[in-house]
Amino acid sequence: MAYETLIVEIEDYVALIRLNRPDALNALNAKLLDELGDALAAADANDKVRCIVLTGSEKAFAAGADIKEMSEKSFVDVFTSDLFGANTEPMLRCRKPIIAAVAGYALGGGCELAMMCDFIIAADTAKFGQPEINLGVVAGIGGTQRLTRFVGKAKSMDMHLTGRFMDAAEAERSGLVSRVVPAAKLLPEAMAAARKITEKSALATMAVKEAVNRSYETTLREGLLFERRLFHALFATEDQKEGMSAFLEKRQPQFRDR
Ligand code: CAA
Repeated sequence: MAYETLIVEIEDYVALIRLNRPDALNALNAKLLDELGDALAAADANDKVRCIVLTGSEKAFAAGADIKEMSEKSFVDVFTSDLFGANTEPMLRCRKPIIAAVAGYALGGGCELAMMCDFIIAADTAKFGQPEINLGVVAGIGGTQRLTRFVGKAKSMDMHLTGRFMDAAEAERSGLVSRVVPAAKLLPEAMAAARKITEKSALATMAVKEAVNRSYETTLREGLLFERRLFHALFATEDQKEGMSAFLEKRQPQFRDR
């Protein structure tokens, strides 16, 4: 399917989704978010996709929500349309792992979009920020909640109140990103991580997503029980038998998602 604001390629069971509004540094307008929702839903439903990589350009993953598009909107406009509510839901509904590969600016909604992915691999050129304060607003796609959980209150407050940017090294040190690589290696690294995930049992990768994400929603006791029940449930699968037999027989497992 052809998109106006995205380029989607599927290879070796990985869907690579590139944000593609170069003139606006991939600012998130309604069209882009709608198309991204469609692309994620399509990837989630496609048997030829087992992992998704979301990326931008060398200069910007995304420089935030589209300021031109929203500047004249009223409270009634944004409240009644639930701006950034419904059109970011597909990201949360996607059951396949999503890796954000971030180079350049990931600001405002761009940083929030990266944080909605399952993990972030950053180029050494990446810059993260929540500069909405400079526009007289606050983050609107989860920045105050997710960034605080990832990097803690002190850094989150600093970022949201001053609007300063965090470089890749600080982002890795703070727990916002999982790895930092030279810019030229960003996509190879993200695609290699994605391909590694495609080799696993999809039942287990879905369970990992559910369990890790649950840790943000519940108490430790409930989370531990949720995890243990998922662990128990996977003993009902052929992939558990295959994975453990393969280990004992010193061979690679052949998972069948059953
Ligand atoms: N929305 C719309 N257009 C944007 C944009 C945005 N968020 N960010 C950049 N652009 C556009 C610029 O207007 C410019 O377009 P024109 O050439 O037509 O003027 C083009 O992209 C290139 O940008 P710059 O000339 O500004 O590039 P630069 O290299 O000098 O600066 C930058 C790069 C520091 C990222 C700067 O563009 C910038 O500060 N952008 C805005 C960042 C921001 O405030 N993001 C938060 C948005 S609000 C939000 O996201 C709310 C939310 O949580 C939901």
